[in-house]
Amino acid sequence: MKKILVVNGPNLNLLGKRDTRLYGTKTLAQIENALRTEGKRLGVEVVCFQSNSEGALIDFIQENYPEAAGIIINPGALTHYSLALRDVLADVGLPCIEVHLSNIYAREEWRQKSVTAPVVIGQISGLGWQGYLLALQYLADLLKDKKRK
Ligand code: DQA
Repeated sequence: MKKILVVNGPNLNLLGKRDTRLYGTKTLAQIENALRTEGKRLGVEVVCFQSNSEGALIDFIQENYPEAAGIIINPGALTHYSLALRDVLADVGLPCIEVHLSNIYAREEWRQKSVTAPVVIGQISGLGWQGYLLALQYLADLLKDKKRK
């Protein structure tokens, strides 16, 4: 079964408690469960990882990409400055979707720049936790198309 890595960066472990007007009331565990359920329906395996540390996120991607078919990532604040995370996403060459719960383009100016966006297929920003689900559906579809070719 194709594996999709769902990677969440700093402070996303606080979902449900963190500013709920911006990030919603669902916890990360609830979002991850919803993704695993949707993954089963779509015929893909969802493997989730969260860390508050840049190096741990990079290590996880480096260790797991050989077995994976795609990545969904919410890099949290690392979105705005982590060139190391951008490099690993570019280096592994997997189809990747960047997700943000909030609309980063409607927030502070410094949040409106994503250093990771140029190396991913596309970005979903502002659709809350459903953004992860849409990303998963898109990737599962993309992988199905690849199989057919
Ligand atoms: C976020 C947006 C980032 O600017 C912020 O630092 C986060 C969450 C989002 O999901 O909306 O931690 O990535």
